[in-house]
Amino acid sequence: MMSTVAATETTLTKKRHLLDLQDWSAEEILALFDTSDVMAQVMQRTIKKVPALQGFTVGTLFFENSTRTRLSFERAARAQSADVISFAAGGSSMSKGESLKDTLKTIDAMQSDLYVVRHAVAGVPYQLAKWTDAIIVNAGDGRRAHPTQALLDAYTFSREFNGFDGFKGKKLAIIGDVLHSRVARSNMTLWSKLGAEVSLCGPSTVLPKELEFAGVAISDNIFEAVEGAHAVMTLRLQKERMQAGLLPSIAEYQTRYQLSEAVMRLAHPEALIMHPGPINRDVEIAGVLADSERSVIEKQVANGVPVRMAVLYTLLVGKK
Ligand code: CP
Repeated sequence: MMSTVAATETTLTKKRHLLDLQDWSAEEILALFDTSDVMAQVMQRTIKKVPALQGFTVGTLFFENSTRTRLSFERAARAQSADVISFAAGGSSMSKGESLKDTLKTIDAMQSDLYVVRHAVAGVPYQLAKWTDAIIVNAGDGRRAHPTQALLDAYTFSREFNGFDGFKGKKLAIIGDVLHSRVARSNMTLWSKLGAEVSLCGPSTVLPKELEFAGVAISDNIFEAVEGAHAVMTLRLQKERMQAGLLPSIAEYQTRYQLSEAVMRLAHPEALIMHPGPINRDVEIAGVLADSERSVIEKQVANGVPVRMAVLYTLLVGKK
């Protein structure tokens, strides 16, 4: 249930939920990045806490495993003095047969203003939005979307790329299992919306042709995909896909799709190396590159906190 104060204040915001970046305009996203800059300053202080969300309660509902997303949302909420209640499906009464709807009703009775939801099934955050009055933030649903990951990725690029002058004329190359990646989908949506070019690369069995549209190119040749790229993002090789016969052996994958120094030589000289995590070192990315100066993998994790602070603040308090 949403408190009266929150209900009044959220009517001031244009967007009530963050389910998919397709629903957000480029201007709104860039405004979110400006708010993230303010939040990043808070995180530089000795006392990393402001009262911005005092009186609000944020519930993290994770029906699927997470390290980065869950911890950074909880950090983002607490750094703004919100209360946090935390649910993880493992160890919950769902193992006793409680349904998703009854689980939500139970948690909802404890009165959160906003839920951060991760679920293995695409569309669950949309369903929960129909069952509660609280605001829903999608923290990853199936292979469909992971909006805050894409936001923190694009934000990190914009703040770290040497001489950044906007997304127009920039190229992002995403390498790996695109078919099963919600991170790839959300980044594709976001970077295209901001005016960048996106190239997708991976074995043809996990590279859906229907993703090719204006501004998005697909190729199964990593050298072609990375050529001239300003940011190169590799995706975790999901080993279960190999068991399903969708990917070649690890050795063949490494030979054809591992991000290596030889591949990076074709990218823009200032290109950044990105990975949403968790990484399989020396599988999809050479360990030496993951640790190199061009890698912003740890910065992506660090920026997850201010970006998620901005998301929570914008949705709960808006433009008041
Ligand atoms: N990038 C990402 O979503 O990581 P977690 O699964 O650890 O949250």
